[in-house]
Amino acid sequence: MDRGLFITLEGPDGSGKSTQIEYLREYFHDQGIETILTREPGGTEIGEKLREIILDKANSDMCDMAEALLYAASRAQHVKQLIKPALEAGKVVVCDRFIDSSIAYQGYGRKLGDAVRVINEFAVDGCMPDITFLLELSPEIGKSRIKSEIQDRLEQEKIEFHNRVYAGYREIAKFYPQRFVEIDAGRDKLTIKKDILECIEKILTGRFF
Ligand code: TYD
Repeated sequence: MDRGLFITLEGPDGSGKSTQIEYLREYFHDQGIETILTREPGGTEIGEKLREIILDKANSDMCDMAEALLYAASRAQHVKQLIKPALEAGKVVVCDRFIDSSIAYQGYGRKLGDAVRVINEFAVDGCMPDITFLLELSPEIGKSRIKSEIQDRLEQEKIEFHNRVYAGYREIAKFYPQRFVEIDAGRDKLTIKKDILECIEKILTGRFF
């Protein structure tokens, strides 16, 4: 096999990505498949420093373009330093948010449009996910799951912003149906887990087994 498997999870804040990523960790561990779990923004030392700057509530005057470029910068470092080498070594990479977060949050949420896709295609240098699970949950419900004291700079945005992000995600999913799997995230977490693992097992058959 010449390339591993690149899985990303996307969705509004509070949609339950972290819980599902933990299930994926257990699943791949039980299968004996070497897996890297990572996240954006972050994933590398430089990326985590950029994450602090991006999400810091004190940076309320950060302009939208700077925000988009910082996410893309974190992603470029992540791809080059961690994701590409792991995939080339035949590993599975599970990433909590990736390029689609930028297209949804900065492209649709901040209304920066297609420029976000362009800068991010430069940043990822051809390294695109094999499969992307979109956890679909209305932003009202998602937001209500996160306590306001611990909301970061993006999470504390108005509901209109989060509604644009969510609508954006659903449009992106329609645009790339071969890569996206839309998951109703309003259901019980074990039912969601079952749906996700069924998809993964189909892909793994013939690849790893
Ligand atoms: P995340 O790490 O998922 O938040 P949490 O603190 O709940 O773990 O993401 C942080 C925020 O950054 C989240 O509101 C989504 C936003 N984001 C973007 O706006 N663009 C991006 O490209 C990425 C990766 C995240």
